[in-house]
Amino acid sequence: MGVFAEKTSNTTGRCVPCRKIPLRYRKLGRHGIEIMYRCGTYHIIEKTAISAGVYSYGIHCPEIAEEAKPGQFVHIKVEGFTLRRPISICDINRKNGSIRIVFEIRGHGTAKLTDSNVGDSIDMIAPLGNGFSSPQSGLAQSSRVITVGGGIGVAPLLGAAKVFRENATAILGFRSYDKIILANDFKQSGVNVITCTDDGSVGLRGTVTAPLEAELAAKPCDMVFACGSLPMLGAIVKICETAGVNCEVSLEQRMGCGVGGCAVCACGITRNDKSHMLMVCRDGPVFKGEEVVL
Ligand SMILES: Cc1cc2nc3c(=O)[nH]c(=O)nc-3n(C[C@H](O)[C@H](O)[C@H](O)COP(=O)(O)OP(=O)(O)OC[C@H]3O[C@@H](n4cnc5c(N)ncnc54)[C@H](O)[C@@H]3O)c2cc1C
Ligand code: FES
Repeated sequence: MGVFAEKTSNTTGRCVPCRKIPLRYRKLGRHGIEIMYRCGTYHIIEKTAISAGVYSYGIHCPEIAEEAKPGQFVHIKVEGFTLRRPISICDINRKNGSIRIVFEIRGHGTAKLTDSNVGDSIDMIAPLGNGFSSPQSGLAQSSRVITVGGGIGVAPLLGAAKVFRENATAILGFRSYDKIILANDFKQSGVNVITCTDDGSVGLRGTVTAPLEAELAAKPCDMVFACGSLPMLGAIVKICETAGVNCEVSLEQRMGCGVGGCAVCACGITRNDKSHMLMVCRDGPVFKGEEVVL
């Protein structure tokens, strides 16, 4: 047994050995503590509008960057709103101790979030949930991986694809030319990129499913990671099942607590031929494709 962080009435505590880092629940690990997630305020170090209504923020949070995995998310407190807003970790830069998030304005909360500028603080609980498979979790570094994203769903896949660099192919789907985001970031990471647009204004005309089928038929593939709308995820799961390829999907669900305490984000999962209600925040957001009821 190791040292556990002190608990206070609101379950927030401080790391007993260094007394610096604000923590929430924790188990064994560094200093005898394995931290499951942190709660704190962190500085915004970069803000860019990357397309109409879509923003990229760099956030300096060394201890979160150290522990975060692609596919996990941050839960952000937006001024004036009771419930936090979940946003995926798009990229992790351990060297400069930062993470990147990319989000689109969907309602009042995300619109308000864009009032925050470089130098402001952002209140986050992170890193939350389970990420995509990676060499850390047993998927070989040499694996051939295909990431398939639709719209803002491409954001959580950048960090996941970067792990496998030239062994990864990213299939990115958007409505039209002006909606394309992050394609250059994927390319600059050495990832092979296939862009599709619904109207054919750039890349292949149509949805991501045809290039996925073509890629799976052309070369062996070890894993497909996907994020996007539910119909798109359903189609991808079916294609992977037919091709006999493992697939992991990241689900979006309205969230309350973000840490498994309120059941707002419950979803149906089939595991070992049994139906279960699992929490997207705690048990996901990344699930095995064949387990998810889409
Ligand atoms: C694990 C996870 C990761 C996410 N990652 C990203 C990301 O990287 N980038 C990004 O732009 N968005 C992401 N989202 C969606 C984001 O959380 C919502 O867009 C945001 O919470 C909307 O807040 P709002 O106050 O602007 O909108 P609201 O006013 O609350 O709602 C506006 C509209 O968005 C829908 N909506 C609200 N919350 C969610 C939600 N959690 N999931 C699906 N639909 C929702 C509502 O049904 C409504 O139609 C993620 C969601 C989850 C669960
Ligand atoms: S949001 Fe509360 S259990 Fe998932």
